[in-house]
Amino acid sequence: MKIQLPVASLSLAYSLVAASTASQQFKARDAHDEIDWSQHQFQAPTTTDSRGPCPGLNTLANHGFLPRNGKNLTIPIVFQGALDGFNVHKELLITAAKAALFTSDLDDQFELENLSLHGNIEHDASLSREDHALGNNNVFNETIFTTLANSNPGSDFFNTTSAGQVQKARLDQSQASNPAFRNTIKEFEVRTRESSLYLQVMGDPLTGIAPKQFVNIFFREERMPLEEGWRKSNTPVTGQTDGPLFSAIARGSQWQPIAGQCPWVTLAQGAPDDPVNDGSIL
Ligand code: HEM
Ligand SMILES: *[C@@H]1O[C@H](CO)[C@@H](O)[C@H](O)[C@H]1NC(C)=O
Ligand SMILES: *[C@@H]1O[C@H](CO)[C@@H](O)[C@H](O)[C@H]1NC(C)=O
Ligand SMILES: *[C@@H]1O[C@H](CO)[C@@H](O)[C@H](O)[C@H]1NC(C)=O
Ligand SMILES: *[C@@H]1O[C@H](CO)[C@@H](O)[C@H](O)[C@H]1NC(C)=O
Ligand SMILES: [Mg+2]
Repeated sequence: MKIQLPVASLSLAYSLVAASTASQQFKARDAHDEIDWSQHQFQAPTTTDSRGPCPGLNTLANHGFLPRNGKNLTIPIVFQGALDGFNVHKELLITAAKAALFTSDLDDQFELENLSLHGNIEHDASLSREDHALGNNNVFNETIFTTLANSNPGSDFFNTTSAGQVQKARLDQSQASNPAFRNTIKEFEVRTRESSLYLQVMGDPLTGIAPKQFVNIFFREERMPLEEGWRKSNTPVTGQTDGPLFSAIARGSQWQPIAGQCPWVTLAQGAPDDPVNDGSIL
């Protein structure tokens, strides 16, 4: 008896250690289960919270991966939030994040609504917002979103083919309705990156296939569809996953530049639409 007890306790202790080591190893490999989701439940923003034209950052703020008030965002805070919430690595965000600092007068930070500064990152022919010259470029608009929502008919997913078609359709709509329409290589690259991002964060970054239900909730409610079965990607979203999707969407969108338009980045102080021809620099 006196000998058997310690042996039994030892073997019980050993199996507990083995079990906890196994579960730690499992967790270390599972990006979704690393998160304490009880700390990251969806909360709709209040009227004093700052929200902007980016459904990705709004969603991260609505789940507490960014400050829920959407304010005092620095580049490191944004990178950490994107990694924790979506497994999106900074290499895909660095240009946008740096440009974002130009939307605010503060040295090293901005708030989400600052991002609607037209001509910085914000551009025409968005998937879910009106063009700056035509309406509100900051808030979700169901009429604008119809083009994406109705794409890939007969399938329950979106993919790079449908994303490219939607890019082209939204570009055609803006070109036909917006006399101030801007469409340089800068807007083209930003728009293509944004489309590859919604496919990757709501779907599989390796295939670019994303369930329609998840994408719709992401845009319409700026919510992670946790109850509906969405899980944070276990595949890191990096240049490696983004590259092929970006190329497929870019090709499918059949983009052409508009003659005479050059890219620039608008600063917080603002910028003229046509500095060469409106007399503001010459
Ligand atoms: C977690 C990573 C991110 C995801 C999944 C994401 C996703 C998206 C998507 C899908 C759009 C297109 C919205 C539309 O066309 O209606 C968008 C727009 C935008 N994003 Fe993000 N984004 C991310 C990170 C960022 C970062 C780091 C910045 C800058 C700090 C940023 C700034 C913007 C801006 C300014 C727009 C508005 C562009 C426009 O449609 O006119 N995003 N984002
Ligand atoms: C936070 O951001 C607001 C503007 O949104 C600014 O007025 C304030 O100074 C910032 N606070 C800190 C501690 O940086
Ligand atoms: C943008 O940021 C500046 C400085 O943080 C702030 O004073 C300003 O009110 C913001 N503008 C918008 C539209 O949020
Ligand atoms: C949404 O956009 C459409 C098309 O530009 C516009 O007619 C409508 O007024 C907008 N809706 C809201 C709520 O702003
Ligand atoms: C996207 O889905 C449509 C409809 O199922 C299909 O015809 C198309 O080939 C798919 N695109 C890719 C790249 O798989
Ligand atoms: Mg826009």
